[in-house]
Amino acid sequence: MQTADVTEELARRVVAAAGRALDVELTPEQALIQASPREGVDYQGNLAMSLGKRLGRPPREVAALIAGALELGDIAGAPEIAGPGFLNFVLRKEWLEARIAGLLGDPRLGVPETPRPRRIALDYSSPNVAKEMHAGHLRTTVIGDALARLLRFAGHEVLPHNHLGDWGTPFGMLIEHLADVPAGQRAIADLDAFYRAARQKFDSDEAFATRARERVVLLQSGDEETLAVWRELVAESTRHFNAVYDLLGVSLTDKDIYGESFYNPYLAAVVEDLEKAGLTEVSDGAVCVFPEGFRNRDGDRLPLIVRKRDGGYGYAATDLATVRYWTAERGATDLLYVVGAPQAQHFAMLFAVCRAAGWLTGHAEHIAFGTVLGADGKTMRTRAGETVKLADLLTEAVDQAAAVVAERSELDSAGQAEVARAVGIGAVKYADLSGDRERDYVFAWDRMLAKEGNTSVYLQYAHARTQSLLRKAGGQPGGTQILLDAPAERALALKLLRFGEALKAATDGYAPHKLCTYLYETAVTFSRFFEECPVLKAASPELRASRLRLTTLTARTLALGLSLLGIEAPERL
Ligand code: ARG
Repeated sequence: MQTADVTEELARRVVAAAGRALDVELTPEQALIQASPREGVDYQGNLAMSLGKRLGRPPREVAALIAGALELGDIAGAPEIAGPGFLNFVLRKEWLEARIAGLLGDPRLGVPETPRPRRIALDYSSPNVAKEMHAGHLRTTVIGDALARLLRFAGHEVLPHNHLGDWGTPFGMLIEHLADVPAGQRAIADLDAFYRAARQKFDSDEAFATRARERVVLLQSGDEETLAVWRELVAESTRHFNAVYDLLGVSLTDKDIYGESFYNPYLAAVVEDLEKAGLTEVSDGAVCVFPEGFRNRDGDRLPLIVRKRDGGYGYAATDLATVRYWTAERGATDLLYVVGAPQAQHFAMLFAVCRAAGWLTGHAEHIAFGTVLGADGKTMRTRAGETVKLADLLTEAVDQAAAVVAERSELDSAGQAEVARAVGIGAVKYADLSGDRERDYVFAWDRMLAKEGNTSVYLQYAHARTQSLLRKAGGQPGGTQILLDAPAERALALKLLRFGEALKAATDGYAPHKLCTYLYETAVTFSRFFEECPVLKAASPELRASRLRLTTLTARTLALGLSLLGIEAPERL
């Protein structure tokens, strides 16, 4: 399937023309082609300004030479040269019509698969055992899931791994606390309450604290009885996490769990390798690596602690083993970590050490995200001042969505309950995905469930409207003829052709919000089309069929786009 990407198509031709006219070699990106914000212009090329500077020639003259050498075939007429040297393109109607018609039979809507598939290890969700998932885990789970979908759709192989915090000193007290409950009655109703109770016993009961410390040693030495209780604890926690994943419609399963404990067998070799490479130093009894370029405010070098003074291994050591495992043993070409922004330095140091050790030669990136804030602008808390549990938050989302849907639904109550889930969960996810991920965002029900504006509810309504229109028309028509005479039809067609570009920007930049923005613009463009262009009562049968085809393509674009964000598009709301 040929790409539907107009930007790319124009860029290729502009680059070729610049080569012929000016003897310069440019990449397609350097053609600086973009959709034009100007009325009556579809695309513009902005390369003449920088090229003029580089060649020491007036930009308008450069633009004219490129225009003269351009071979656009039937795509567009000769570009107009505007302002300081913009090349303004107006696409030919017939070409546009043929392009849109070409999308009708294409399940990928003109989006090509990458010619260079990569094998991407993607760390996301990664909650901690014996603790409830909170709003921060919502972000990593939702963003990670969207990235997994986007990357797979682009043709990459994605290896998800859920880096559960399932190891370390607190497990002594947690296991001991669970072991105090008779076997067979160890279901944990509330993970946070369980954790608090263990901590309280540890702080107040000296004998318990001693037993807890001994448990850590037993756990680390692989004592079978201890491991059995530990496994129960992990299983109880995983049950809670899976309930959240289910509610969210996130595909993580038990086979994606690669908790901290998984890397235990590799830790000794990690230290050994680093020592052999001459990278370690002993500082305060701990084995450390001081990667170059990392210093604190006082100018002291910062250590990545590989082995603690007591011989134990911590978070950093495990992450070193993680990198080594996914590159060396699993052949990952890319390592992505969807983790909150506060861990930026940890990952920067980790990558630096792994590169120095030779474990990391490909791409590694910390996909950072900001904090979820409450209405008061502070980290979101319950009224009682506790962190908000993700499960409670999602249940409330569905309840709130049910009220919104009930306001104007054509469905019976069972149908409404079903879409409430799609709408509520979609709203939470979309609110998280639609902003630049590195920024904090304020969690506000009324805003995320608004029927107007850049929300998933708005997109879901737009999609449902397309479905209702197609139902009234008795289904989508066969044939492929597309007619684009009205300005609103043309605008919609231009938007539909930009789906691939939006996906590419969202995927390459790990920036789902770019897809959100595109989908929103598409829905707005469709609604203008819907207002200005009668569909069922179009002036001719051909026009009616063409408009129904545009409606079908809009529906498919919205549904596919939403699905790549992990959001459902119900047929009716
Ligand atoms: N469990 C950690 C937390 O909840 C996140 C782990 C992220 N992944 C990693 N490989 N360090 O903060």
